[in-house]
Amino acid sequence: MLVLRDPAAITTLLVALALPLPLPLCCTPLSRPSDPQPVKTYNVDLNSDPRQRWNEVLHDHRHYVPAILDMIRSFIPQDVLPLAEQIAEDIENLIPSPFAQEITGIANYWGMNVGDMILLNIIYDITAYCTSVVAQDGNRVIWHARNLDYESSDLLRNLTISVNFRHGNKTLYQAVTVAGYAGVLTGQRPHGFTVSVDQRGSKKHRLGPWWENELTAILYKSSSFVTFLIRQTLEETQRFSEAVLKMSTTVIHAPVYIIVGGASQGEGVVITRDRVAALDRFYLNPLQGRWYVLETNYDHWLPAPAFDSERRAVGHREMDKLGSENVNSTTLYQVLSTAPVLNNYTTYTTVMSASQPEVFNTQVRWPPL
Ligand SMILES: *[C@@H]1O[C@H](CO)[C@@H](O)[C@H](O)[C@H]1NC(C)=O
Ligand SMILES: *[C@@H]1O[C@H](CO)[C@@H](O)[C@H](O)[C@H]1NC(C)=O
Ligand SMILES: *[C@@H]1O[C@H](CO)[C@@H](O)[C@H](O)[C@H]1NC(C)=O
Ligand SMILES: *[C@@H]1O[C@H](CO)[C@@H](O)[C@H](O)[C@H]1NC(C)=O
Repeated sequence: MLVLRDPAAITTLLVALALPLPLPLCCTPLSRPSDPQPVKTYNVDLNSDPRQRWNEVLHDHRHYVPAILDMIRSFIPQDVLPLAEQIAEDIENLIPSPFAQEITGIANYWGMNVGDMILLNIIYDITAYCTSVVAQDGNRVIWHARNLDYESSDLLRNLTISVNFRHGNKTLYQAVTVAGYAGVLTGQRPHGFTVSVDQRGSKKHRLGPWWENELTAILYKSSSFVTFLIRQTLEETQRFSEAVLKMSTTVIHAPVYIIVGGASQGEGVVITRDRVAALDRFYLNPLQGRWYVLETNYDHWLPAPAFDSERRAVGHREMDKLGSENVNSTTLYQVLSTAPVLNNYTTYTTVMSASQPEVFNTQVRWPPL
């Protein structure tokens, strides 16, 4: 177990994690898959007690609890633990329903501290490098595809699940998430909209009092977890325009890109968020030839930094080569499977389409052995 107390050591670790690192080949078991694997889908009943509704998922993934604790300890500076404990004591007041109850239920089921569970939520809230694309095909159908890239990838791959959030017999919305986590980074409201979140800016800009900032924001209820906002939007809004408005104007903990696809022609946007509001909304405009929008982790009006410009450039090259007429679930998956859009950190690929909810498909991606 790696425990970091020294802020300089944390800086070094996080800066290092932002760069490509060789995989620990010594420790990679031969049994791990190398082909893409479909994720398992669970039903989560929104009418049931939030403290119990994740139990099936938690049971299936209970073997990973020690590894999850190690991950939390390796990411989090020791001196923020008391702040996390303070939030845990008053969680029902500080974190909105049903997230507070779900987090408490998850911690109890897995025998973890509620404080650790809160820290885990922060880790997932801010640390995903990604590529997302929304495109309109030749029949004016909207498609949305995304790769989620994450550093602690093998554990995350094993924890990745697909969830149908159900009201009675009806699936209200669907999400791709991580077992033990209540927020959403990728989701679909059938016949409404699809959404994915990409991190904005590099971790280097988030160091310093980063953890304190996050925890203080919770303590003063001054902003919302991005991933909680995404789930609330999936739950509460039915249409693209309402969803875009809500996700553009709710104050959040960290700057991000929120990519949204709709169920009707022309509906697609990359929202560039700072904490308070949208700085920019970059919409599809098929009549003017903009039949797709693509986002990695940089403002679209600025050049991507040299160390990571290829993901964006190759993504655009492959989309341009494809052309609107040839967009479908297979071809979009292929675009997201082109290196370095697909890379050793890619944890999963999702393809979805709000007007065709049955398309919703996620494959866990393993780097070559
Ligand atoms: C992930 O699951 C594979 C089996 O599919 C296993 O070999 C590997 O050790 C697991 N890795 C982690 C970090 O949990
Ligand atoms: C759910 O569907 C089943 C079978 O289709 C039906 O028997 C049941 O009454 C339904 N429940 C609700 C809450 O609609
Ligand atoms: C997707 O489009 C490609 C290129 O036009 C085509 O070859 C393929 O058959 C299509 N696949 C599906 C599932 O529609
Ligand atoms: C990805 O991993 C493979 C083998 O595991 C390695 O050969 C390759 O260089 C890695 N790619 C990057 C960009 O690190």
